[in-house]
Amino acid sequence: MSAPRPAAVIVLAAGEGTRMKSATPKVLHEVCGRTLVGHMVHAAQELEPARLIVVVGHARERVEGHLSAYPDVTAVVQEQQNGTGHAVRIVLENVGVIEGTVLVVYGDTPLLRGSTLAGLLERHASDGNAVTVLTAHVPDPTGYGRIVRGDDGAVLAIVEHKDATPEQRAIDEMNSGVYAFDGALLADAVKRVSTANSQGEEYLTDVLSILREEGHRVGAHVATDHVEVEGVNNKAQLAFVRRVLNDRIVHEHMINGVTIVDPASTWIDADVRLEADAVIHPGTQLHGSSRVGTGAEVGPGCTLTDTVVGADAVVRNAVCDSAEIGQGASVGPFAYLRPGTRLGAKGKIGTYVETKNAVIGTGSKVPHLSYVGDATIGEGANIGAATVFVNYDGVDKHHTTVGDHARVGSDTMLVAPLTIGDGAYTAAGSVIVNDVPPGAMAVARGRQRNVEGWVIRRRTGTKSAQAAQRALEAGS
Ligand code: UD1
Ligand code: CA
Repeated sequence: MSAPRPAAVIVLAAGEGTRMKSATPKVLHEVCGRTLVGHMVHAAQELEPARLIVVVGHARERVEGHLSAYPDVTAVVQEQQNGTGHAVRIVLENVGVIEGTVLVVYGDTPLLRGSTLAGLLERHASDGNAVTVLTAHVPDPTGYGRIVRGDDGAVLAIVEHKDATPEQRAIDEMNSGVYAFDGALLADAVKRVSTANSQGEEYLTDVLSILREEGHRVGAHVATDHVEVEGVNNKAQLAFVRRVLNDRIVHEHMINGVTIVDPASTWIDADVRLEADAVIHPGTQLHGSSRVGTGAEVGPGCTLTDTVVGADAVVRNAVCDSAEIGQGASVGPFAYLRPGTRLGAKGKIGTYVETKNAVIGTGSKVPHLSYVGDATIGEGANIGAATVFVNYDGVDKHHTTVGDHARVGSDTMLVAPLTIGDGAYTAAGSVIVNDVPPGAMAVARGRQRNVEGWVIRRRTGTKSAQAAQRALEAGS
């Protein structure tokens, strides 16, 4: 990015956001795997500012706690929210005068692109302005501050909607609330902002007219896409912003060679990584730090969180949490992979299978109707249908180890702690409580006995008895 590095970015995020009607502070609501304020921090980081400051106030402990995940962020507390100008004044009282360019943004405009901020900084520097405001022409400017320009187009002032005359309200160029300031001039002017307005607040917007009246250059940079400056004030806007951000993310993956069959029903978080020629089928959500390798197919109907899918693997109708799926492996349809699942290359976790803390070796298969918990399975093993790894004794969890090329019969209960040796078998329907040595066949079930003629004697006249009678008479 060619824009000059700002001395500081200040993110205003102290407001309550009452219209969200939520117990969660506004800036901590999430879209595309990041909080609103998190998106702003990322956009700011792209500019490589010398300092990154976030103003917190409402629910400050929670917001500060969240921000501690960003070591380059300094939180400054604004105890009472007396306006945007007040917020900036408090910052400068805390950290002192900042020499150089100071960029001010809000914590609730996650659609703002780093490149738009860079454009603002370039304009600010090339025009030699004391302040440059980011503006946009919007279809409905109701509620926003209006940009009042002179006949020559110069920015004269910003007038808040509540303080505007009918003529000023007709202006469709709005104040986005994003500005680049000369730091020293800002520090001086922000002290002189009055509260003589309809809301009795210190308006940051007044800094523009103060600087202009003192003969400094005041400019504007018009955003080409007004959607970028839309803020989030309620849950409908939250959903709108999520849709737009998701569209951007999905679009970028497609441009990078990922096949996305149905962009409208595919939701991808900002930090997900997909390789070219991965295929994402409809109704799929990829969250957190999930990754999908080339040639892999995910979906339809998958929800993956922090999950890694190897190249050429196939994952259908599955919920996967912190799982690793090996190259060429197959998962689902209808599988639940819980944290600690690691499926080896060409392995299989099939239909109605749940796994947790399970390391399943190369080429091993758990095809049907099973629970695999707290297990290590070697290579080339087969776990028969409806096998349960009985890992919980009601108090503690225990581990099961299954060796290479073992064959666990269908409907086996493997009662942990347990070790099944390499190449060992278990008979279908067994309850295995003791270790099985390599190569042995373990049988642990009742021996079968047939009570001849029982149905004909005890269920006389039923269709079963009649069928049996016919079969016996036919000599079969
Ligand atoms: C502000 C602008 C308005 C602009 C609009 C764009 C002023 C006076 N007005 O109006 O021209 O069109 O944004 O959205 O600046 N905040 C604090 N501390 C405070 C007050 C606000 O941190 O004391 C934060 C809020 O959390 C919010 C942002 O600043 O993220 C904007 O505050 P808000 O009260 O929503 O300003 P608007 O009235 O929308
Ligand atoms: Ca607002």
